[in-house]
Amino acid sequence: MSNLTFPVLQFLADGQFHSGEALAQQFKVTRATIWNAIKHAKSLGIPIFSVPGRGYKLPQAIEFLDKNAVLNAIGEQREWFNLIILDEIASTNTYLMQQKNVAHATCVAAHIQTKGKGRRGRTWVSQLGASLTFSLVWRFQCGAAALSGLSLAVGVALMRTLISFGVNQAKLKWPNDVLVEGKKLAGILIELHGDLDGPSMAVIGIGVNLNLPKEVIEAIDQPTIDLNTASNNTINQNFLLGTLLKHLTEVLSRFEQFGFVGFRDEWVNYHAYHQQPVRMLLPNGTEVLGLVNNVADDGILLVETSLGLQRFSAGEISLRAVNTGDTA
Ligand code: BTN
Repeated sequence: MSNLTFPVLQFLADGQFHSGEALAQQFKVTRATIWNAIKHAKSLGIPIFSVPGRGYKLPQAIEFLDKNAVLNAIGEQREWFNLIILDEIASTNTYLMQQKNVAHATCVAAHIQTKGKGRRGRTWVSQLGASLTFSLVWRFQCGAAALSGLSLAVGVALMRTLISFGVNQAKLKWPNDVLVEGKKLAGILIELHGDLDGPSMAVIGIGVNLNLPKEVIEAIDQPTIDLNTASNNTINQNFLLGTLLKHLTEVLSRFEQFGFVGFRDEWVNYHAYHQQPVRMLLPNGTEVLGLVNNVADDGILLVETSLGLQRFSAGEISLRAVNTGDTA
């Protein structure tokens, strides 16, 4: 690990060539030290061009997370948050789950996650400047048992944010994937600490694809899309994170009082597969075919099957659309 890696990357963020000599002068170190910092960046999967005689260059200009810009975008509620921006971490969820006594409304966003986690044991792929990855700690008086609809409520906050950015074609897939054109744009991973009857702490991890290189999108094992493709406007990631935190505050505060029930109609409105034929994949490898009927007050999916109305709770269960090749 080189302490200079991220300062050097910030210098290269303009997408222009900078010579090793100029960088060495800027940071008052030798060219070999700069080379080491670049080597570490490359080991993190960051593509950097090194051209003899010209220096180092990122493939394109990138925007870094900036604490003040995020706080400004949150607006009045910025005081609530303890916002931490990390350069490199295995996973923002894992990091917060391992900390002791984390304050309510602590948000950790990372420029790079080296072991990003998805639901059901999957890996979450992200890239510097091309993905938004963060986790938010929210403490509840109630216990984990009362939080069954939480991940769906968080999906509502994501949808409100995306709609405010004009991404009106975004949809939710139960329990909480965000899709555009049937491809995954964003995901939510919630991990819980605490007793079943309370109090409890949720680590709400969110990943949004911003501007992933084509080859990265193609290497992901499910249909994937990014905001750059889904939106006509260029979306600033600091503004996106601030707006998301604002909507999350509203949704989580209301969830604390009333649970998921207050969001149910809105959630159903966003659901890509409401009243659609689906396959439910169960943890034991079997699947159940049915027609999505509704979602219950606690976030459980109600599916009309050959055995009658069946209830599916999120956990390790996954939904697939029938006849669309959906593998998201
Ligand atoms: C999924 O759809 O499978 C959930 C993806 C969640 C990814 C985010 S990125 C920030 C946070 N840290 C992680 O390791 N995962 C979540």
